[in-house]
Amino acid sequence: MSDFDAAVRTVPDFPEPGIQFKDLTPVLANAALFARGVEALAEPWKDAGVTHVLAIESRGYWFGGALAVRLGAGLVPARKPGKLPLAGPRETYALEYGEDAIELPKDVLPPGARVLVHDDVIATGGTAGAACRLVSREGAAVVGASFVLELAFLGGRAALPEGTRVHALMTE
Ligand code: PRP
Ligand code: MG
Repeated sequence: MSDFDAAVRTVPDFPEPGIQFKDLTPVLANAALFARGVEALAEPWKDAGVTHVLAIESRGYWFGGALAVRLGAGLVPARKPGKLPLAGPRETYALEYGEDAIELPKDVLPPGARVLVHDDVIATGGTAGAACRLVSREGAAVVGASFVLELAFLGGRAALPEGTRVHALMTE
């Protein structure tokens, strides 16, 4: 994946001073790298019986839809509040200052579904942890959590349900 990694741009001090932002847009715009990323994200889950990919707004949508197609799974978007016309369960999570929330579409994820949670980045794990809780509230199972980038120094895995299988293409 070295040319994949090399295409990711590090942008200093965005969105705030001291943050080294990882910009995936050059990867997405490169057909070969995008396809390779989808393939590499799918690989660990091919025999896991994934029925649905739950992709988290908004950057989780970049690879999430393609990952679902590659796995032969459906796509369920988790959205920020106020975006879904028919909203189901909502989970809040802590931000550095304050809190945010994500919602599932109402009556879309069937009980018994086997769900792969996908997002571009896991940092503190607050967002992905909330996504896992939404899956459980629908009576579905979290097969695992998939990320393009894990900021391991922030320890986000601890915010996921205990024992959650995690895969990340890149780790910082
Ligand atoms: C970013 C990123 C992840 C989340 C990771 O999303 O895309 O979804 O933060 O952070 P956490 O592990 O600390 O929760 P953001 O909320 O900035 O929104 P966006 O995807 O719409 O840009
Ligand atoms: Mg996001």
